[in-house]
Formats: sequence, structure tokens, C-alpha cells
Amino acid sequence: MIKKIGILTSGGDAPGMNDALFGAIRTGYKLNKEMYIIKEGYRGLVEDKIEKVHKDFATSLLNRGGTVVKTARLPEFKEDKVQYEAIETLKKHGIEALIVIGGDGSYMGAKKLTEKGINCIGLPGTIDNDIASSDFTIGFDTALNTVVDAVDKIVDTSSSHYRCAVVEIMGNHCPDLTLYAGIATGADYIITCDTDTNVDKMIKELKELKKTNPDHVLILVAEKTLDTKALTDRISTETGFDTRLTVLGHIQRGGEPTAMERVNSIRMGSYAVELLDKGIGGVCIGTNGNDLIYTDIYDALKLPRNKHEDLTHVYELIR
Ligand code: ADP
Ligand code: F6P
Repeated sequence: MIKKIGILTSGGDAPGMNDALFGAIRTGYKLNKEMYIIKEGYRGLVEDKIEKVHKDFATSLLNRGGTVVKTARLPEFKEDKVQYEAIETLKKHGIEALIVIGGDGSYMGAKKLTEKGINCIGLPGTIDNDIASSDFTIGFDTALNTVVDAVDKIVDTSSSHYRCAVVEIMGNHCPDLTLYAGIATGADYIITCDTDTNVDKMIKELKELKKTNPDHVLILVAEKTLDTKALTDRISTETGFDTRLTVLGHIQRGGEPTAMERVNSIRMGSYAVELLDKGIGGVCIGTNGNDLIYTDIYDALKLPRNKHEDLTHVYELIR
């Protein structure tokens, strides 16, 4: 029976990470484990930034965005030699199992450590919702609420001037934040890697629309899809719409986690400890409807991205 469990966050931070820590730490103590935090992701393993924590370590952090144990990217962690250094540090502390909260890259690190003898469980932590083994990732719901709140505010001012608003949304090639926000805000256009938006056609449609004096136009664009500044300039010069661009940026990654985010993150953190207690490792946890599931990390990484054809269909019907 394992006695000591470590927990770290890796890659981009996301609201809900502190809640997952809380779920894991509390459950750990309930199951008679000693719980350790590792600061700065895999770097903290290599540089021995490890502390044993009390069961109430994360209790006051449930409403705090970001990750209190910090996060980092350590490209060298792909090397076997560096992974063995991490294992030496863990052995020094007697830590036998690890919970890794992060994205696909972090999952790979967790799998490699499992193969080298430290059972690891991955939790999906990213606002992008780009982890196919989970319906929703830790951070997505909060980021979506932040995006929708920001877009609503942009529409207040934009519609007061009969303007066109172009809003660039994060996602790192994953369209989910833009698609969900597009539905929630009734956007006129969404542009993502899954939409085959023909910009020339859109400009033509906007020119026609301008003749009807609409209240405003709202266009949401997933980052890394096209040059939003060039698009905004083009709409301004070619359609007659006074157009403004807002790049939402890192505001999308911060803030108080929503209630559902907290509940799901706590559940996942708690479940990770239960699985480790049963000797299960090399897997990642996800949501599947209302259930929690776990999948082998290699299988999870091979799953195709969910394209949400059902939601795209709904969007087409309501626009
Ligand atoms: P995310 O976890 O959000 O996908 P990254 O892709 O930046 O973010 O990965 C986070 C960290 O995971 C990397 O900085 C590295 O330390 C580790 N990592 C990424 N890929 C691998 C790999 N193939 N093997 C071992 N560790 C990896
Ligand atoms: O993966 C989360 C994310 O916020 C992406 O949406 C975005 O492209 C990227 O991280 C930004 O990374 P950084 O904080 O390194 O600029």
C-alpha cells in the first residue's frame, strides 16, 4: 500500500488547478497518505522543490485561479536521463506515486515516470479543452464564462455605435472556447480551424448587411486561425462598418473558478488518489458525461479531437 503521494501542475495554468489539489490532498489524508506538493512542475522534481503539506493546505484556495504550486515548462524532461534524476529526488523523499495536472505534454512525462516505476495519474488541466480523453478539461468552464462575460461587454459598447466587433479568443488551435462562446453570445460569425469561413464571402455579406443598418456585428475568431488585425482592417475599409479588434489574451486564463469547475476539479483530484491507492497508474482521468473515467495515457494521446459536430450544427441553426 502506498503511503506518500506527490502532486504537481505542469504546462499552462488553469482555474480549478487549486481545487484539484484540494481534492487530492483531502482525500489523501482521509486514506492515511502523506501528501507532498512539487513546485514548478517537472522542474521542481529535478531541482527538489518538494514540501510535505497539511490536509488544509489548499482549503483557502478554492476560489483562487492560477496554480498555487506554480507551473513550468521543462523541455529537457523528454530525456530519460532527466526523468531518472526526477525519480532519484522522489525516492529521496520516499514518494511512490504522483498526480500530474496538465495537458498532453505533461501526460507524456507522467507516462514515462510510470514506466520507470513511479505510478502517475494525469488530470486534464488547460483552458483549451483540447484533451480528447475528457469531455471537459479543468479550466475550460471558467475560461468560457470569462470569454462570454467579456464578449457581452464588448457588445454593449459595439452596439451603441452600430459597430462591428472582432474578438480573438485563446485555444491554441482548439476551437472549443470560440465555438461555445459563439453559441452563448449569438455571434454572427465564428472563425476556427473547423469552420470553412470564406473571408471574401463574409466581406460581401457584411457589405449587404450594412445597407440594412444593423445594431452591430459580432465576429469571434479562434487564435492562430488567421491574422485578426488584417481581418479587422479589411472589414473597416471594405464594408463601411466601423470595426474594432479585441484580443482577449491572458485574462482568459485567470479568475475565480466557477462552481462547476470547482466541483469537477475536486472530484478529479480525489479520484486520482483513490486510483493510486488501488495501485493504478499510467492513466489519465477525464469526464464522460457526468461520470469520471480513466484511460491509459498512450491510448488517450491517440484519440482524435472531438469536433463537436452537434454544436456546430446548433450554431448554424441559430445564426
Ligand atoms: P501541456 O502539458 O499543457 O501540453 P507542454 O506540451 O508544454 O504543455 O508540456 C509540459 C511539460 O511536459 C514539458 O515542458 C515537459 O517538461 C513535459 N513533456 C512534454 N512532452 C514530453 C515527453 N514527450 N516526454 C516527457 N515529458 C514531456
Ligand atoms: O494552453 C493554454 C494557452 O492559454 C493557450 O490558449 C495559449 O495559446 C497559450 O496557452 C499561451 O501560452 P503563454 O502563456 O505561454 O503565452
